[in-house]
Amino acid sequence: MVKQFSAFAPATISNVACGFDVFGFAIDGPGDIVTARFSDKPGITISAISGDEGRLPLKTMSNTAGIAANHLMNTIKSAVGIDLQITKKMPFSSGLGSSAASAAAAVTAINALLDYPLKHEELLPSVVEAERALCGSSHADNAAPALLGGFILVRSTEPLDYIKVPLPENLHYALVHPKIEINTNDARKALPKQIDLFTAVKQWANTAALVQALNSSDFGLLGRSMVDYVAEPVRAKMVSHYQEVKETALANGAVAFTISGSGPAMFAFSDNADKAEKIATAMNAVYNKYDIENTVYSGKIKHDGTTLIRE
Ligand code: HSE
Repeated sequence: MVKQFSAFAPATISNVACGFDVFGFAIDGPGDIVTARFSDKPGITISAISGDEGRLPLKTMSNTAGIAANHLMNTIKSAVGIDLQITKKMPFSSGLGSSAASAAAAVTAINALLDYPLKHEELLPSVVEAERALCGSSHADNAAPALLGGFILVRSTEPLDYIKVPLPENLHYALVHPKIEINTNDARKALPKQIDLFTAVKQWANTAALVQALNSSDFGLLGRSMVDYVAEPVRAKMVSHYQEVKETALANGAVAFTISGSGPAMFAFSDNADKAEKIATAMNAVYNKYDIENTVYSGKIKHDGTTLIRE
């Protein structure tokens, strides 16, 4: 049998309202799978991608998995030939960290194939490099939770400094992904380059309060602190029926609601599984009413990030 390793990396929800480029968490929903095996061709090659409707590039340095893999090989100074096969099991340009998931799965599978030259957390710079190459900014708010799981606060990307935030046991999410594509690059360019001091004060008060809310399982404080004065006011306009979906989620018991990453996916937090399911169903009904194809998920935070798949 050919020696190979496959890894699964989860979808992630980043920003979490007030924490633009700072907060992100992994979900127990969809994700990507990458298989790595040795190849006679030198360097990293990508021989197959499925689940992408033929839209993602096979060229190594145009593909997020290839870029991360290449960065890893440079880091460990290895020139061995490795071929990757990617199975997309989540939508891209969705705001669910698709690029980070493929990158995290690729480096995790390669690290196992090469018998662990690096510790799992040492793979993070390669995943962040893929994000930087793809959209010009080395944000780690999808990369870190995709690789490491949990809810992560990225204090700094250069140098990388992040903290896993303890979470309430009963924290649940409800997520809707309407089939509208939003390119992360475009969604970043639309943001204000500067914010005034008064707005900044409100925003950083909320980011600090959000961490305290999660630490102390205070869902009231979580709801009050998940207000975004920077990205949501601009990006909400890019998502059809945003206000109606938000009002519907809140009317169905959501603690808070906002855009997932750069959108168009949106999510709500709730304090129990039944409520999360009810919110997901209600959000689904809004888009069905407008004949907009959409997918909903609900569940909990995934604590272990990218994992190897037993074959
Ligand atoms: N923090 C990033 C953004 C996430 O909102 O642009 C998208 O990759």
